[in-house]
Amino acid sequence: MDSIVVTGNGPLRGQIPIAGAKNACLTLMPATLLSDEPLTLTNAPRLSDIAMMGTLLQSLGAEVAQMQGGKVLALSSHALDNHVADYDIVRKMRASILVLGPMLARDGHAVVSLPGGCAIGARPVDLHLRALEALGAELDLRDGYVHAKAPGGLRGGTFEFPLVSVGATENALMAATLARGTTVLKNAAREPEIADLARCLRKMGARIEGEGTSTLTIEGVARLGGATHAVVPDRIELGTYMIAPAICGGEVECLGGRIDLVQAFCDALDRAGITVAETEAGLKVTRGDGPVRATDVATEPFPGFPTDLQAQMMALMCTAEGTSLLEERIFENRFMHAPELMRMGARIDVQGGTATVTGVDRLKGAPVMATDLRASVSLILAGLAAEGETTVHRVYHLDRGYESVEEKLRNVGAKIERISGQ
Ligand code: UD1
Repeated sequence: MDSIVVTGNGPLRGQIPIAGAKNACLTLMPATLLSDEPLTLTNAPRLSDIAMMGTLLQSLGAEVAQMQGGKVLALSSHALDNHVADYDIVRKMRASILVLGPMLARDGHAVVSLPGGCAIGARPVDLHLRALEALGAELDLRDGYVHAKAPGGLRGGTFEFPLVSVGATENALMAATLARGTTVLKNAAREPEIADLARCLRKMGARIEGEGTSTLTIEGVARLGGATHAVVPDRIELGTYMIAPAICGGEVECLGGRIDLVQAFCDALDRAGITVAETEAGLKVTRGDGPVRATDVATEPFPGFPTDLQAQMMALMCTAEGTSLLEERIFENRFMHAPELMRMGARIDVQGGTATVTGVDRLKGAPVMATDLRASVSLILAGLAAEGETTVHRVYHLDRGYESVEEKLRNVGAKIERISGQ
């Protein structure tokens, strides 16, 4: 298994290009299952999770071709010959559950393995299932699989999500596009990746209103066609690289970055004393001479502070002046980076869903272990600001969600290298 070695090397300067959003691409790809015409996605990120979704779609009989080195994905589901999403793939990637709604909506049946828990919490899929039931799906849970049927096709219905779920909103939205009649999804997630999905579905012929708000209204159509769609920029990759100059000093321009994707995060950076400016090409982040100020944040569904940036924010707060409270309100077990950061000299006290972080002058390099995707990158960020060398073990998580991370950071002056097989 690869490791990444990072050595604290002073301020960072330069530009970092931001890729298309992993989480948008992971929901746009299954949208191919709704149509027998081709779906072309441009600005796709080159990540192992995207390859995994490709493998899953191929296992169902879809064609998946990568062009331009993986930046363009040509998808076609004109000849689906399998409606079973196998446990072996689903257990490796939770987003696999997103094939359920589209397959069921188009062909009236689907069998999808239940994903099981993951490192950051139990993460059930009950809301995905309840929303599909509200559209007339008949579900049977057997042998670890959801067996779903909609013999006469799905029909429009109203469903109010008891809590905001990104994935469940996506599954229900895709399914509703081909349901007979009108569907109203209340308390829907408002993440930019869902608005991106809605835009793509509309290009395919879907009738959707309200994306970006908490009520989605979908008028079902008989069939959807093909489309070409550019994946929205990755706001989590963007936020991650915005932390890099904040924690190391210097100035980095994130190319393709948009403030509307990361407003709550930028507000937090502003409170911490970090300057973010819009440029023609993206967002420029500057850390002045003063210290980073301790800043409290609580994670929330969009437009609140994203849970996927909590670990990176914690790395920043580890060297801030004063004590900050970081509250995790989305996942029950998402502080596994805290003990690893403490191995680097951070002062963190975790009580339930709240971490109290007291800044130290300087972190110290240490061997640490990556536990999940965002935890991995928070340890790299911490290593960039630490004295000496930090080795992050088990970095395969990183390749799921960050394209060319070493190259992007090296180009702005970081000392970072990958060691294969350790
Ligand atoms: C998506 C993102 C993930 C991000 C998360 C929250 C993708 C591929 N992943 O995950 O990176 O961290 O949004 O912004 O887009 N829940 C239930 N029942 C359900 C579904 C969810 O109880 O059926 C709970 C979850 O356990 C969690 C909360 O709802 O506590 C939010 O989860 P959700 O928004 O569904 O996250 P994902 O779509 O899995």
